[in-house]
Amino acid sequence: MPVLENAQGGREAGGWSPGVYTHRYEAVIVGAGGAGLMAALHASRRAKTAVLSKLYPTRSHTGAAQGGISAALGNMEPDKPEWHAFDTVKGSDYLADQDAVELMCYQAPEVIIELEHMGLPFDRTPEGRIAQRRFGGHTNNETGRPVMRACHAADRTGHMILQTLYQQCIKQGVEFFDEFYVMDLLIDEREGRVAGVVAYELATGALHVFHAKAVLFATGGWGRIYEVTSNATTLTGDGAAVVWRRGLPLEDMEFYQFHPTGIYKLGILLTEGMRGEGGVLLNDRGERFMERYAPKVKDLASRDVVSRAIYFEIREGRGIGGKNYVHLDIRPETINRYFEKDGVRGPDGKPRRVTRDYLLAKLGDTIEFCKTYLGIDPLEEPIPVQPTAHYAMGGIPTTKRGEVVRDENNRVLPGLYAAGECACVSVHGANRLGTNSLLDLVVFGRLAGQAMAQFARQNDWAPPPEPGAAVERVRLELERLLNGKGSENPARIRDELSRVMMQNVGVFRTEALLKEALEKIQELKERYARARVRDRGRVFNQELVEAWEVGCLLDVAEATAACALHRTESRGAHYREDFPERDDQAWLKHTLVWRQPDGTLRFGAKPVVITKWPPKARTY
Ligand code: FUM
Repeated sequence: MPVLENAQGGREAGGWSPGVYTHRYEAVIVGAGGAGLMAALHASRRAKTAVLSKLYPTRSHTGAAQGGISAALGNMEPDKPEWHAFDTVKGSDYLADQDAVELMCYQAPEVIIELEHMGLPFDRTPEGRIAQRRFGGHTNNETGRPVMRACHAADRTGHMILQTLYQQCIKQGVEFFDEFYVMDLLIDEREGRVAGVVAYELATGALHVFHAKAVLFATGGWGRIYEVTSNATTLTGDGAAVVWRRGLPLEDMEFYQFHPTGIYKLGILLTEGMRGEGGVLLNDRGERFMERYAPKVKDLASRDVVSRAIYFEIREGRGIGGKNYVHLDIRPETINRYFEKDGVRGPDGKPRRVTRDYLLAKLGDTIEFCKTYLGIDPLEEPIPVQPTAHYAMGGIPTTKRGEVVRDENNRVLPGLYAAGECACVSVHGANRLGTNSLLDLVVFGRLAGQAMAQFARQNDWAPPPEPGAAVERVRLELERLLNGKGSENPARIRDELSRVMMQNVGVFRTEALLKEALEKIQELKERYARARVRDRGRVFNQELVEAWEVGCLLDVAEATAACALHRTESRGAHYREDFPERDDQAWLKHTLVWRQPDGTLRFGAKPVVITKWPPKARTY
């Protein structure tokens, strides 16, 4: 580890003083999921690059993505990037920026081939092509029927992408700082550009200043603001919170996606690939209720539509046994019955049928999850499922090259980049299609990495940062959490936050519910200011790290609830029962929200880029 300077830390009279080390890299990438690694791979071809991750890289949440990555390869049946782009725009409820969507969908085939050439072990067709499956909202635009567009490696596609990219980064000599938690951003105010980051080293409790020409945040989402979520415990919105605290805006935070099929109560993801392979959702009467909500594509409607449909069924008393879940049925006999009813044909043109062995090969991990967590063999009995908080459509606003945007006029903060779930390009608008997140990671991770390298080549070093203020901010906050006078338990605050977000800022929202949530968040923020951990140790102080994460969760939850209150219409995943219609006249625009120095919020807006698809009514 190149150390330019260090000062030993220790516990001294008057407080905790950590060692502070400094490093210098042209490109610093924060986060080691798909977007961060793809960016690192491309940046490091031309710039000295370091990746900082609060986790060991292959534990990043990209590894939990199951069902596939979309690209109109047309390997199994006719398909076109243009259809993919239209489906993405329609899925977004017309809020996505269409220039960015077209870029992503047209680059998709090429980026899949790039991954294949890196050695990614995709499933294959009998002819040796990359295998594809159906997924929600992806259609043949001529027939309106689901199309096989999701390239996959069984149901561990994200895992394979993560491993492949990590191996490539290691091969290319990218330097990794594992278990380094970035807590603040250095901005050189004189030059108006980014100068680096401040990170906390979990193993020692030391602070590290990374002087950089370009910094990329690829820190993932914040599903942990919700009680029932598919997200790992580490998905706490750190990158978005850091950027927001430094006076930059967040975009479209009101749009949070609930994936229809989480394991009941636990929220663990059961891939949409289960429905892509023919699985169906059933209510207490055994009805395939999606036939009523989305007559054409049924269980493969977009996620916002399916999640709401599940809740409508539950509200009307048709949850299983009157409870708040429905069944996902992937038994081969059920799938084959509905295939026959719907006239589904395979790539060979013959009526499609599945076998147990086929399902085991395609869905082995998720079948295993059901056995482990529910004690159920899904090939023998239906699975209890409920919508689970899954994906943030909004985040740090960026250009298509990943540059972070700081105002309504798309002016950027030089040297700062974001990609992946923490960013908002925006290709997902108000609702993301399944498999488009892995695609977003690799397409925009690659573009951002290339842009960082170019920026590093074209720009000299900013004067060495004066990290004093940022280091002091981090040190004081850690000191407060370690040795403050308060007695509030951060874990309790996190639990109360996730409960109120689930109940009041979930799939259904109203003004009253949102105001109540915001009041609760204010109360929790006040209590957080009095929070303290019990473990005062320096070495792997996980309690301290989790306490810091609670501060990030509070910030992104506040932005989410406030933006949801601000937007008085329903669009995509944002469903206001008091404003149930989409209102293009007033709301065909992106929300921007800033936190001002006095703590109050300010809202702004950016127009939606429309290239060729003017908004129309959305039916499936
Ligand atoms: O259902 C899934 O496999 C999840 C995919 C995604 O969110 O893109």
